[in-house]
Amino acid sequence: MDLRNKTIVISGACSGIGAETARLARSHGATVIGIDRNPPGLTLDGFIQADLGTVAGIDAAVAQLPERVDALCNIAGVPGTADGDLVARVNYLGLRHLSERVLERMPAGSAIVNIASILGAEWPQRLARHKELAAVAGFDAGAAWLREHPVPHQSCYQYFKEALLVWNYVQSQPWFLEKSVRMNCVAPGPVFTPILGDFVSMLGEERVQRDSVRIKRPAYADEIAPVVAFLCSDAARWISGVNIPVDGGLASTFI
Ligand SMILES: NC(=O)c1ccc[n+]([C@@H]2O[C@H](COP(=O)([O-])OP(=O)(O)OC[C@H]3O[C@@H](n4cnc5c(N)ncnc54)[C@H](O)[C@@H]3O)[C@@H](O)[C@H]2O)c1
Repeated sequence: MDLRNKTIVISGACSGIGAETARLARSHGATVIGIDRNPPGLTLDGFIQADLGTVAGIDAAVAQLPERVDALCNIAGVPGTADGDLVARVNYLGLRHLSERVLERMPAGSAIVNIASILGAEWPQRLARHKELAAVAGFDAGAAWLREHPVPHQSCYQYFKEALLVWNYVQSQPWFLEKSVRMNCVAPGPVFTPILGDFVSMLGEERVQRDSVRIKRPAYADEIAPVVAFLCSDAARWISGVNIPVDGGLASTFI
């Protein structure tokens, strides 16, 4: 995989999947700029400390980026044990705003990779709603739409991963046609990262036990990172608008 001469911005670069993606991308020659609310514990080529759950935080971070960005990996995220409003802002509204702002710096041939989740797999059940939200432009208008269409806290993580998948499906082709920028999702199953325990609390012991017999084990973050890096690379230049499950076969067991 050749990522030389590419500047890749990775949100959530200081932990878990983001940190593994940053390490791997650098080892393949990329210049990696991390954005995270926490300081880094690994070597990066650049780092911006920012709250990606607010427009002001995102805009301030984007102002510090170089003029050319070849790939954006939207990996920052919070689990459903967090406040529902925070889940909406970080996992969906902020991700969209960061993508739109970084897009302004992307030349033809660039790529955006969003980390979704197997927990977003039920998006077809709420497709009309997710499409309606996807069509609401801007962070503040999206937040206003969500105040009118409240999401129950117990399912907010799943809801915004579904919404992310649908936004990826509807927004990727206009950007590919107009700007030659590709956008794709990667949907992990459970991954050994610091928030795995939050997912167990969020889903409940019974659901976790049911799912655990369907897989060998949770993934390691370094088993997700290569797929993200591939989607950033020119080898993936004809892949846009897809979601790639990286879940050790878990999704296939629901069919
Ligand atoms: N771990 C899993 O089982 C799993 C499964 C499927 C999907 N995911 C998704 O993978 C992505 C990465 O999660 P992870 O498991 O590596 O978790 P993690 O907690 O190890 O990493 C998440 C990173 O995002 C950063 N972050 C969170 N809120 C932020 C904010 N407001 N501003 C800036 N940075 C912020 C955190 O500081 C952290 O460094 C998330 O989107 C998560 O939803 C995780």
